[in-house]
Amino acid sequence: MLDRVFDNWCNEAAFLLDEATAAEVDSVAMEFVNAGPFFVLNMANGNPIIVETNTHQQEEGDHYAPAPILRSVDRWKTVPPGRPVSVGAETASQVRDRLLGVLWSQSCEIVDRTIGLPADLELGCVLALGFRRGPLGLAASEGAEEVERVLARFARERPGMPMPVAPPAAYQAFLRHVLVDDYEGVKVITLRRPQAMNALDDQVTDEILQVIRAHEDTAEGFVITGYGTRAFCAGADIGRFPKVLGDADAAADYARECSRLLLHLDGMEKPVVAAINGLALGGGLELAIRCHDLVALRSASLQFPEIKLGITPGLGGMVVPYRRWPAGAPIFHEMLCSARRLGAVQAHELGMVSALADSIDALVAQAVARVKELGVAPSLPSGTVDIPTMAPANAAGGLSVEVIGLIGQAVEEGATASSWAEALEIGYRNFGTSACTAAAAEGIAAFLERRRPDFSKTG
Ligand code: COA
Repeated sequence: MLDRVFDNWCNEAAFLLDEATAAEVDSVAMEFVNAGPFFVLNMANGNPIIVETNTHQQEEGDHYAPAPILRSVDRWKTVPPGRPVSVGAETASQVRDRLLGVLWSQSCEIVDRTIGLPADLELGCVLALGFRRGPLGLAASEGAEEVERVLARFARERPGMPMPVAPPAAYQAFLRHVLVDDYEGVKVITLRRPQAMNALDDQVTDEILQVIRAHEDTAEGFVITGYGTRAFCAGADIGRFPKVLGDADAAADYARECSRLLLHLDGMEKPVVAAINGLALGGGLELAIRCHDLVALRSASLQFPEIKLGITPGLGGMVVPYRRWPAGAPIFHEMLCSARRLGAVQAHELGMVSALADSIDALVAQAVARVKELGVAPSLPSGTVDIPTMAPANAAGGLSVEVIGLIGQAVEEGATASSWAEALEIGYRNFGTSACTAAAAEGIAAFLERRRPDFSKTG
């Protein structure tokens, strides 16, 4: 499936070069065309491969014939990917349209002929071909009109190339980031966004909700797990945080909005079990602890890393663990204030995790068994909770004293709140306040710039 995308993309770039050579277009334009695909071809000595695969593909029609130029050159003169090359607007638009044209033509062909599934195509292009976004995601963001314009031009310039059999919108109706399996009547939902360690953005959240709503009446219950062995879920998508920094109301609203899945879980009758297959971090841990039960790989771990970002965990992290497992309060204090990691074995001893597994297969089987044992979702714990006071914050750990103070406040107020909803609201507002601190600005910037945060000047 991916070779189809890549080979035809390279071949199309080679055709553009053939055309440019024939038209005696200047060498700058040639470099522009060269920049992407040919950089990779050089690395892989790939010309003969493209010639061979496209010769095979000619069985589907002569429009797949390899570009003549591929046989006439050994190495390409390229600029490194990402280095801009300035060319005239007409050349730039011709190259862009042609490469997008072949990309969308092949992508729709892959879907139309079920050569591959759309979600696999998207993920493969990101993981294996280094795309920032999959071709269908790119089509969604460019809009139907632009896709149709580009494809119409492609059809004119490259007659015979496959064209989509349905309008552009028809290629967008699929789950991008979750896999759904049926396991003895239980729906197993696997978060699959390995490029961001299964972090939750709006789309992932809505896809999980969509699957739950679609099967809530008929399935015995649900298991939520993560793809791969590294992460269950690395939390809320940090890429969206900068938009709410410095605005307490917007940040609190963001926390409320991100909680739509968690609130749905709170109100469900069918049980949902989290199968923790790796790291459950921040918003990922907040998702796990809102499931009605947790099972974990023995090697998995739970962590609230928010303090290292200079923010507080606003989606229930400062209230839910205390209400569900009050005996763990001293450990939760430490997890929140120092980002201490809790291993699955310890979480099991605390009663947070009801069973441990040694393999992914056993993990899913145990989670399914727990769904069946539970039968219905247990009701939410009610009333206030008595917990030990948190030690006052100090600067010793190099973390933000101000944000540790905010955590202490939310934990205390959350424990004495008269209802679950009121306790959650305390968390949302507290997150809003934390988003206005200098520590949040530093912590989030440091993560996005891939450096260690320096809280020594932020308070
Ligand atoms: N949101 C968005 N992207 C995330 C993410 C998150 N919560 N967690 C990880 N990612 C992305 C990284 O940005 C990186 O993307 P890139 O390759 O495009 O740069 C990719 O996932 C892999 O993560 P990376 O940091 O390179 O891997 P690592 O092995 O060095 O570190 C972690 C792994 C989990 C320790 C690190 O990613 C991390 O600290 N993540 C943030 C966890 C967090 O604070 N969550 C709470 C948010 S509520």
